[in-house]
Amino acid sequence: MSHRTPSQQAALERSSTLEDQLQAAPREFRVLTGDRPTGPLHIGHYLGTLANRVRLQDLGVEVIVVIADYQVMTDRQASRQLPATVRGIVADYLAAGIDPDRSTIFTHSAVPALNELVLPFLSLVSDAELHRNPTVKAETEATGRPPTGLMLTYPVHQAADVLFCHANLVPVGLDQLPHLETTRLIARRFNERYTGSSPLFPEPDALLTATPMLAGLDGKKMSKSRGNGIALQATEDHTAAMIRRAPTDSERRITYDPIARPAIATLLDLLAAASGADPHQLADEIGDRGAGRLKQVVTEAVNELLRPVRRRRAGLAEDTSYLEGVLDTGNARARRLADRTLATVHDLLGMGYANRSTLPAASPEVDDGEVERQRAGLGSGCAVAAQP
Ligand code: TRP
Repeated sequence: MSHRTPSQQAALERSSTLEDQLQAAPREFRVLTGDRPTGPLHIGHYLGTLANRVRLQDLGVEVIVVIADYQVMTDRQASRQLPATVRGIVADYLAAGIDPDRSTIFTHSAVPALNELVLPFLSLVSDAELHRNPTVKAETEATGRPPTGLMLTYPVHQAADVLFCHANLVPVGLDQLPHLETTRLIARRFNERYTGSSPLFPEPDALLTATPMLAGLDGKKMSKSRGNGIALQATEDHTAAMIRRAPTDSERRITYDPIARPAIATLLDLLAAASGADPHQLADEIGDRGAGRLKQVVTEAVNELLRPVRRRRAGLAEDTSYLEGVLDTGNARARRLADRTLATVHDLLGMGYANRSTLPAASPEVDDGEVERQRAGLGSGCAVAAQP
């Protein structure tokens, strides 16, 4: 494990205190977390975050999950497949154990008031602060292009994700800590500037997950776009084929040495994560039987771990209308929460008049049929913007 900065260390210590509080009083917490819908969720998501979300939900914590669709617009490839990807992610969540009766799943695009919170929040951070964010820097470098305004303000959008529902706990990996700092900063500054003794927003805590980040099969960061992670929806045969193609080295005897033998260590880490055993011991057990045997054992462990999830997922994936219904219900709930928060924010900003105009107007000029036609995308044209 690489060295931790003092702030990472502090967050880890805080997380263990929070774990105690979660056990003692789960209903004091509201969790907000999410994913960008760039592709199907993989084993890294499952081990790193999905299993933890389910654990929190089952403890009795309220869990709200955003599918951050407005944050994949920059990725042309991903946005073309959005409807299927989003539905697939809903299936992944449910298969992993998220219970739609207890937890809420929604998308950015269905909750306008959440997105509107970005505007007042933008006024609370400086240009320099936005440019300093190391995660934004790293992601920008990975694209090889200068950051768009959307990319640069992603942490502010994420603050809106967390604060619209007054979440006080955000389970994250270490790379997301800078974003959470921005959320905390915005909550603090908003409260200082606009509220008196009763703050509107909690300053949410990060809950760091115990599992270290799992590398992809090629040893690089596991990501949906690199295709180096084993998807929850992959078949057992596809899983076996992916593991068979993973790089190894020429030494027969299997040992766990992340520095000298990174390719073998990547496979052993995956095996350790899937089986819950120690990688050194797993290496010893395989010993002279070599990389072929190691791959066989990894394949069995991964397929066994994912079997129940995949079984549930197969039952759900075909049921498009059920998956869409889950999302519709989640979206409606998120809209209610966001509308309420935005109304309060409007009041605090001196824009209370905005709240009056959100009441549906009984205007004789509006032909209801016209509204319906526009909704269906059949209308007279200008109300429905064309896709760029
Ligand atoms: N930034 C997260 C990611 O890239 C996804 C995300 C969007 C998120 N909004 C969030 C995570 C709010 C936690 C809280 O994976």
